[in-house]
Amino acid sequence: MKVIRPLCVAALAFFVLASAAKAQIPRDPTPVVAKTSPEDVAMGKKLYEATCSKCHGIDGGGSDGPSLQGSPERLGDAEVGAIIRGGIPGTGMTAFGSLNVEETGQVVGYLRTLGRTADAEIAKGDIGQGKSVYETRGCAGCHIIRGEGGGAGPELTRVGAMRGPTYLRAALLAPGTILPQEAGAMERGRFTQFLFVHVVTKDGHSVDGTRVSENSFAIVIKDAAGRFHAFKKRDVQKVEKIPGKSVMPSFKDTLSASQLDDLVAYLASLKGAQ
Ligand code: HEC
Ligand code: HEC
Repeated sequence: MKVIRPLCVAALAFFVLASAAKAQIPRDPTPVVAKTSPEDVAMGKKLYEATCSKCHGIDGGGSDGPSLQGSPERLGDAEVGAIIRGGIPGTGMTAFGSLNVEETGQVVGYLRTLGRTADAEIAKGDIGQGKSVYETRGCAGCHIIRGEGGGAGPELTRVGAMRGPTYLRAALLAPGTILPQEAGAMERGRFTQFLFVHVVTKDGHSVDGTRVSENSFAIVIKDAAGRFHAFKKRDVQKVEKIPGKSVMPSFKDTLSASQLDDLVAYLASLKGAQ
Protein backbone atom coordinates (compact mmCIF):
# COMPACT_ATOMS: atom_id res chain seq x y z
CA MET A 1 0.00 0.00 0.00
CA LYS A 2 2.78 2.38 1.06
CA VAL A 3 4.51 1.85 -2.25
CA ILE A 4 1.43 1.75 -4.40
CA ARG A 5 0.01 5.12 -3.41
CA PRO A 6 3.04 7.25 -4.40
CA LEU A 7 3.23 5.22 -7.57
CA CYS A 8 -0.37 6.06 -8.39
CA VAL A 9 0.23 9.72 -7.68
CA ALA A 10 3.30 9.71 -9.89
CA ALA A 11 1.41 7.95 -12.67
CA LEU A 12 -1.43 10.44 -12.40
CA ALA A 13 0.97 13.40 -12.46
CA PHE A 14 2.72 11.94 -15.46
CA PHE A 15 -0.59 11.45 -17.24
CA VAL A 16 -1.74 15.01 -16.54
CA LEU A 17 1.61 16.47 -17.63
CA ALA A 18 1.73 14.30 -20.72
CA SER A 19 -1.75 15.31 -21.84
CA ALA A 20 -1.04 18.98 -21.12
CA ALA A 21 2.12 18.71 -23.22
CA LYS A 22 0.15 17.02 -25.98
CA ALA A 23 -2.40 19.85 -26.06
CA GLN A 24 0.41 22.35 -26.51
CA ILE A 25 2.15 20.69 -29.41
CA PRO A 26 1.72 23.08 -32.34
CA ARG A 27 -0.36 21.67 -35.19
CA ASP A 28 1.65 19.24 -37.23
CA PRO A 29 2.20 20.89 -40.62
CA THR A 30 3.06 17.57 -42.35
CA PRO A 31 0.77 17.38 -45.39
CA VAL A 32 -1.59 14.41 -45.36
CA VAL A 33 -1.24 11.95 -48.24
CA ALA A 34 -4.06 9.50 -49.00
CA LYS A 35 -3.07 5.91 -48.13
CA THR A 36 -4.74 3.58 -50.54
CA SER A 37 -3.41 0.04 -50.00
CA PRO A 38 -6.21 -2.42 -49.14
CA GLU A 39 -4.92 -2.62 -45.53
CA ASP A 40 -4.87 1.17 -45.20
CA VAL A 41 -8.37 1.51 -46.66
CA ALA A 42 -9.68 -1.19 -44.29
CA MET A 43 -8.15 0.68 -41.34
CA GLY A 44 -9.49 3.99 -42.69
CA LYS A 45 -12.98 2.49 -42.84
CA LYS A 46 -12.77 1.43 -39.19
CA LEU A 47 -11.54 4.85 -38.10
CA TYR A 48 -14.19 6.59 -40.24
CA GLU A 49 -17.02 4.51 -38.80
CA ALA A 50 -15.89 5.11 -35.23
CA THR A 51 -15.10 8.82 -35.58
CA CYS A 52 -17.00 10.41 -38.45
CA SER A 53 -20.07 8.36 -39.39
CA LYS A 54 -22.45 9.76 -36.78
CA CYS A 55 -22.35 13.16 -38.50
CA HIS A 56 -21.39 12.25 -42.06
CA GLY A 57 -23.46 9.06 -42.44
CA ILE A 58 -22.30 5.45 -42.46
CA ASP A 59 -21.84 5.56 -46.27
CA GLY A 60 -20.39 9.09 -46.19
CA GLY A 61 -23.54 10.45 -47.86
CA GLY A 62 -24.14 12.94 -45.07
CA SER A 63 -26.60 13.26 -42.21
CA ASP A 64 -26.63 16.33 -39.99
CA GLY A 65 -23.15 16.92 -41.44
CA PRO A 66 -22.53 17.22 -45.21
CA SER A 67 -21.77 14.40 -47.63
CA LEU A 68 -18.07 13.54 -47.94
CA GLN A 69 -18.51 11.50 -51.11
CA GLY A 70 -16.19 13.11 -53.65
CA SER A 71 -14.63 15.55 -51.12
CA PRO A 72 -11.00 14.39 -51.67
CA GLU A 73 -11.45 14.64 -55.45
CA ARG A 74 -12.95 18.13 -55.13
CA LEU A 75 -10.78 19.60 -52.35
CA GLY A 76 -7.60 17.55 -52.69
CA ASP A 77 -6.26 14.99 -50.20
CA ALA A 78 -4.06 17.47 -48.34
CA GLU A 79 -6.95 19.90 -47.78
CA VAL A 80 -9.28 17.14 -46.54
CA GLY A 81 -6.46 15.99 -44.25
CA ALA A 82 -5.98 19.54 -42.94
CA ILE A 83 -9.74 19.83 -42.26
CA ILE A 84 -9.72 16.55 -40.33
CA ARG A 85 -6.69 17.53 -38.24
CA GLY A 86 -7.55 21.20 -37.81
CA GLY A 87 -11.37 21.33 -38.04
CA ILE A 88 -13.38 24.18 -39.58
CA PRO A 89 -13.49 26.92 -36.92
CA GLY A 90 -16.93 28.12 -35.90
CA THR A 91 -18.75 25.05 -37.28
CA GLY A 92 -19.73 21.60 -36.03
CA MET A 93 -16.56 20.24 -37.66
CA THR A 94 -14.09 20.09 -34.79
CA ALA A 95 -10.42 19.13 -35.04
CA PHE A 96 -9.60 15.43 -34.74
CA GLY A 97 -6.15 15.66 -33.17
CA SER A 98 -6.65 12.09 -31.95
CA LEU A 99 -5.81 10.88 -35.48
CA ASN A 100 -2.14 11.08 -36.48
CA VAL A 101 -0.97 11.93 -40.00
CA GLU A 102 -0.83 8.26 -40.98
CA GLU A 103 -4.35 7.48 -39.68
CA THR A 104 -5.72 10.63 -41.29
CA GLY A 105 -4.21 9.44 -44.60
CA GLN A 106 -6.00 6.12 -44.12
CA VAL A 107 -9.33 7.90 -43.57
CA VAL A 108 -8.76 10.00 -46.72
CA GLY A 109 -7.86 6.81 -48.62
CA TYR A 110 -11.15 5.29 -47.49
CA LEU A 111 -13.13 8.45 -48.45
CA ARG A 112 -11.77 8.01 -51.98
CA THR A 113 -13.53 4.62 -52.23
CA LEU A 114 -17.00 5.87 -51.29
CA GLY A 115 -19.95 5.58 -53.69
CA ARG A 116 -22.14 8.49 -54.74
CA THR A 117 -25.44 7.86 -52.93
CA ALA A 118 -25.82 11.54 -51.95
CA ASP A 119 -25.39 12.75 -55.53
CA ALA A 120 -27.98 10.19 -56.68
CA GLU A 121 -30.37 11.40 -53.96
CA ILE A 122 -29.93 15.04 -55.05
CA ALA A 123 -30.15 14.20 -58.78
CA LYS A 124 -33.73 12.94 -58.30
CA GLY A 125 -34.90 16.56 -58.16
CA ASP A 126 -34.67 19.77 -60.16
CA ILE A 127 -33.08 22.76 -58.41
CA GLY A 128 -35.08 25.39 -60.32
CA GLN A 129 -38.40 23.65 -59.64
CA GLY A 130 -37.39 23.27 -55.99
CA LYS A 131 -36.75 26.99 -55.73
CA SER A 132 -40.27 27.73 -56.92
CA VAL A 133 -41.73 25.19 -54.47
CA TYR A 134 -39.79 27.00 -51.75
CA GLU A 135 -41.11 30.38 -52.87
CA THR A 136 -44.76 29.31 -53.15
CA ARG A 137 -45.09 27.15 -50.01
CA GLY A 138 -44.48 29.79 -47.36
CA CYS A 139 -41.01 28.57 -46.37
CA ALA A 140 -39.63 32.11 -46.52
CA GLY A 141 -42.12 33.14 -43.85
CA CYS A 142 -39.97 31.24 -41.34
CA HIS A 143 -36.55 30.89 -42.96
CA ILE A 144 -33.92 33.31 -44.19
CA ILE A 145 -31.83 32.71 -47.33
CA ARG A 146 -29.21 35.38 -48.08
CA GLY A 147 -30.90 37.99 -45.94
CA GLU A 148 -34.42 37.40 -47.21
CA GLY A 149 -37.28 35.89 -45.26
CA GLY A 150 -38.46 35.54 -41.67
CA GLY A 151 -36.58 34.17 -38.70
CA ALA A 152 -38.89 31.74 -36.87
CA GLY A 153 -36.70 28.85 -38.06
CA PRO A 154 -32.97 28.41 -38.68
CA GLU A 155 -31.25 30.29 -41.50
CA LEU A 156 -30.88 28.14 -44.64
CA THR A 157 -28.28 30.15 -46.61
CA ARG A 158 -25.63 27.40 -46.13
CA VAL A 159 -27.87 24.46 -45.29
CA GLY A 160 -26.56 22.46 -48.26
CA ALA A 161 -22.97 22.81 -47.01
CA MET A 162 -23.98 21.78 -43.50
CA ARG A 163 -26.44 18.91 -44.03
CA GLY A 164 -26.83 15.80 -46.15
CA PRO A 165 -29.84 15.21 -48.43
CA THR A 166 -31.41 12.48 -46.29
CA TYR A 167 -31.43 14.82 -43.31
CA LEU A 168 -33.01 17.58 -45.42
CA ARG A 169 -35.75 15.22 -46.57
CA ALA A 170 -36.45 14.11 -42.99
CA ALA A 171 -36.59 17.76 -41.87
CA LEU A 172 -39.42 18.34 -44.37
CA LEU A 173 -41.34 15.17 -43.55
CA ALA A 174 -41.02 15.12 -39.77
CA PRO A 175 -40.10 18.59 -38.46
CA GLY A 176 -38.86 18.74 -34.91
CA THR A 177 -38.13 15.03 -34.64
CA ILE A 178 -34.79 15.24 -36.36
CA LEU A 179 -32.38 17.38 -34.46
CA PRO A 180 -28.62 17.36 -35.01
CA GLN A 181 -26.70 14.46 -33.47
CA GLU A 182 -23.76 16.76 -33.25
CA ALA A 183 -22.72 17.02 -29.62
CA GLY A 184 -22.56 20.66 -28.63
CA ALA A 185 -25.14 22.01 -31.09
CA MET A 186 -27.75 22.19 -28.35
CA GLU A 187 -25.32 23.78 -25.93
CA ARG A 188 -24.26 26.38 -28.44
CA GLY A 189 -27.92 27.42 -28.61
CA ARG A 190 -28.41 26.75 -32.29
CA PHE A 191 -31.40 24.54 -31.67
CA THR A 192 -32.56 25.24 -28.13
CA GLN A 193 -33.96 28.46 -29.60
CA PHE A 194 -36.42 26.40 -31.64
CA LEU A 195 -37.87 24.68 -28.61
CA PHE A 196 -41.62 24.28 -29.07
CA VAL A 197 -43.68 25.79 -26.25
CA HIS A 198 -47.38 25.45 -25.47
CA VAL A 199 -48.78 28.13 -23.15
CA VAL A 200 -52.23 28.08 -21.54
CA THR A 201 -53.36 31.35 -19.97
CA LYS A 202 -55.49 31.56 -16.81
CA ASP A 203 -58.58 32.34 -18.90
CA GLY A 204 -58.04 29.16 -20.91
CA HIS A 205 -56.50 30.54 -24.12
CA SER A 206 -53.64 28.57 -25.56
CA VAL A 207 -50.77 29.79 -27.70
CA ASP A 208 -48.11 27.67 -29.44
CA GLY A 209 -44.76 28.94 -30.62
CA THR A 210 -40.99 28.66 -30.44
CA ARG A 211 -39.23 30.03 -27.39
CA VAL A 212 -37.50 33.35 -27.97
CA SER A 213 -36.41 34.07 -24.40
CA GLU A 214 -37.15 32.93 -20.89
CA ASN A 215 -36.21 33.67 -17.30
CA SER A 216 -37.69 32.68 -13.93
CA PHE A 217 -40.56 35.14 -14.22
CA ALA A 218 -41.40 35.49 -17.89
CA ILE A 219 -41.32 33.75 -21.25
CA VAL A 220 -41.54 35.16 -24.80
CA ILE A 221 -42.61 32.93 -27.68
CA LYS A 222 -43.04 33.50 -31.41
CA ASP A 223 -46.01 31.86 -33.14
CA ALA A 224 -46.08 30.35 -36.64
CA ALA A 225 -47.22 33.66 -38.11
CA GLY A 226 -44.17 35.39 -36.61
CA ARG A 227 -46.06 37.24 -33.85
CA PHE A 228 -44.40 37.59 -30.46
CA HIS A 229 -46.28 36.74 -27.26
CA ALA A 230 -44.90 37.69 -23.85
CA PHE A 231 -46.24 36.06 -20.67
CA LYS A 232 -45.59 36.59 -16.97
CA LYS A 233 -45.31 33.10 -15.56
CA ARG A 234 -47.48 33.84 -12.53
CA ASP A 235 -50.29 34.90 -14.90
CA VAL A 236 -50.47 31.66 -16.85
CA GLN A 237 -51.92 28.26 -16.06
CA LYS A 238 -49.27 26.23 -17.80
CA VAL A 239 -46.02 26.52 -19.80
CA GLU A 240 -45.31 23.22 -21.49
CA LYS A 241 -42.08 22.59 -23.44
CA ILE A 242 -42.40 19.90 -26.05
CA PRO A 243 -39.15 18.78 -27.68
CA GLY A 244 -39.87 16.85 -30.87
CA LYS A 245 -42.75 19.14 -31.82
CA SER A 246 -42.26 22.04 -34.20
CA VAL A 247 -44.09 25.11 -35.46
CA MET A 248 -42.91 23.96 -38.88
CA PRO A 249 -45.70 22.00 -40.59
CA SER A 250 -44.87 18.57 -42.02
CA PHE A 251 -44.94 18.58 -45.82
CA LYS A 252 -45.55 14.83 -45.95
CA ASP A 253 -49.09 15.11 -47.31
CA THR A 254 -48.98 18.52 -48.97
CA LEU A 255 -46.07 18.04 -51.38
CA SER A 256 -45.95 15.42 -54.13
CA ALA A 257 -42.99 13.02 -54.28
CA SER A 258 -41.46 14.98 -57.14
CA GLN A 259 -41.95 18.33 -55.39
CA LEU A 260 -40.14 16.87 -52.38
CA ASP A 261 -37.28 15.66 -54.59
CA ASP A 262 -37.06 19.15 -56.15
CA LEU A 263 -37.05 20.86 -52.77
CA VAL A 264 -34.31 18.56 -51.44
CA ALA A 265 -32.22 19.29 -54.57
CA TYR A 266 -32.72 23.03 -54.07
CA LEU A 267 -31.89 22.98 -50.35
CA ALA A 268 -28.80 20.83 -51.03
CA SER A 269 -27.63 23.46 -53.54
CA LEU A 270 -27.62 26.22 -50.90
CA LYS A 271 -23.94 26.44 -50.00
CA GLY A 272 -23.49 30.04 -48.93
CA ALA A 273 -22.40 33.22 -50.61
CA GLN A 274 -20.42 31.80 -53.53
C1 HEC B 1 -19.95 16.25 -34.63
C2 HEC B 1 -20.24 16.12 -36.05
C3 HEC B 1 -19.05 15.83 -36.97
C4 HEC B 1 -18.10 14.83 -36.86
C5 HEC B 1 -17.98 13.75 -35.77
C6 HEC B 1 -17.24 14.97 -38.02
N1 HEC B 1 -17.67 16.02 -38.79
FE1 HEC B 1 -16.83 16.64 -40.54
N2 HEC B 1 -18.18 18.17 -40.66
C7 HEC B 1 -19.22 18.38 -39.78
C8 HEC B 1 -20.00 19.55 -40.21
C9 HEC B 1 -21.23 20.13 -39.52
C10 HEC B 1 -19.35 20.04 -41.37
C11 HEC B 1 -19.77 21.27 -42.19
C12 HEC B 1 -19.11 22.47 -41.63
C13 HEC B 1 -19.56 23.74 -42.34
O1 HEC B 1 -18.99 24.05 -43.39
O2 HEC B 1 -20.50 24.37 -41.82
C14 HEC B 1 -18.22 19.14 -41.63
C15 HEC B 1 -17.36 19.29 -42.70
C16 HEC B 1 -16.37 18.35 -43.05
C17 HEC B 1 -15.56 18.42 -44.25
C18 HEC B 1 -15.62 19.49 -45.34
C19 HEC B 1 -16.56 18.95 -46.41
C20 HEC B 1 -16.58 19.76 -47.67
O3 HEC B 1 -16.76 19.12 -48.73
O4 HEC B 1 -16.45 21.00 -47.62
C21 HEC B 1 -14.75 17.32 -44.24
C22 HEC B 1 -13.72 16.92 -45.29
C23 HEC B 1 -15.07 16.58 -43.02
N3 HEC B 1 -16.05 17.24 -42.33
C24 HEC B 1 -14.46 15.37 -42.68
C25 HEC B 1 -14.71 14.69 -41.49
C26 HEC B 1 -14.03 13.45 -41.12
C27 HEC B 1 -13.09 12.67 -42.01
C28 HEC B 1 -14.47 13.14 -39.87
C29 HEC B 1 -14.00 12.01 -38.98
C30 HEC B 1 -12.57 12.03 -38.68
C31 HEC B 1 -15.46 14.14 -39.48
N4 HEC B 1 -15.56 15.08 -40.49
C32 HEC B 1 -16.16 14.13 -38.29
C33 HEC B 1 -19.52 17.63 -38.67
C34 HEC B 1 -18.77 16.56 -38.18
C1 HEC C 1 -44.03 28.15 -39.28
C2 HEC C 1 -42.63 28.24 -39.50
C3 HEC C 1 -41.96 27.33 -40.53
C4 HEC C 1 -42.33 27.09 -41.84
C5 HEC C 1 -43.57 27.57 -42.59
C6 HEC C 1 -41.28 26.25 -42.39
N1 HEC C 1 -40.32 25.99 -41.45
FE1 HEC C 1 -38.65 24.90 -41.73
N2 HEC C 1 -38.20 25.03 -39.72
C7 HEC C 1 -38.90 25.80 -38.81
C8 HEC C 1 -38.32 25.60 -37.48
C9 HEC C 1 -38.78 26.25 -36.17
C10 HEC C 1 -37.23 24.69 -37.63
C11 HEC C 1 -36.24 24.22 -36.54
C12 HEC C 1 -36.27 22.77 -36.22
C13 HEC C 1 -37.63 22.18 -36.08
O1 HEC C 1 -38.43 22.72 -35.28
O2 HEC C 1 -37.93 21.21 -36.80
C14 HEC C 1 -37.20 24.36 -39.07
C15 HEC C 1 -36.26 23.50 -39.65
C16 HEC C 1 -36.08 23.35 -41.01
C17 HEC C 1 -34.98 22.66 -41.65
C18 HEC C 1 -33.80 22.00 -40.93
C19 HEC C 1 -32.69 23.03 -40.83
C20 HEC C 1 -31.44 22.49 -40.14
O3 HEC C 1 -30.38 23.14 -40.29
O4 HEC C 1 -31.50 21.48 -39.45
C21 HEC C 1 -35.17 22.75 -43.01
C22 HEC C 1 -34.25 22.18 -44.09
C23 HEC C 1 -36.40 23.48 -43.22
N3 HEC C 1 -36.93 23.83 -42.00
C24 HEC C 1 -36.92 23.76 -44.48
C25 HEC C 1 -38.20 24.31 -44.68
C26 HEC C 1 -38.83 24.42 -45.99
C27 HEC C 1 -38.18 24.02 -47.31
C28 HEC C 1 -40.07 24.94 -45.77
C29 HEC C 1 -41.19 25.17 -46.80
C30 HEC C 1 -41.56 24.00 -47.59
C31 HEC C 1 -40.19 25.20 -44.33
N4 HEC C 1 -39.04 24.80 -43.71
C32 HEC C 1 -41.27 25.79 -43.71
C33 HEC C 1 -39.99 26.62 -39.09
C34 HEC C 1 -40.70 26.62 -40.29
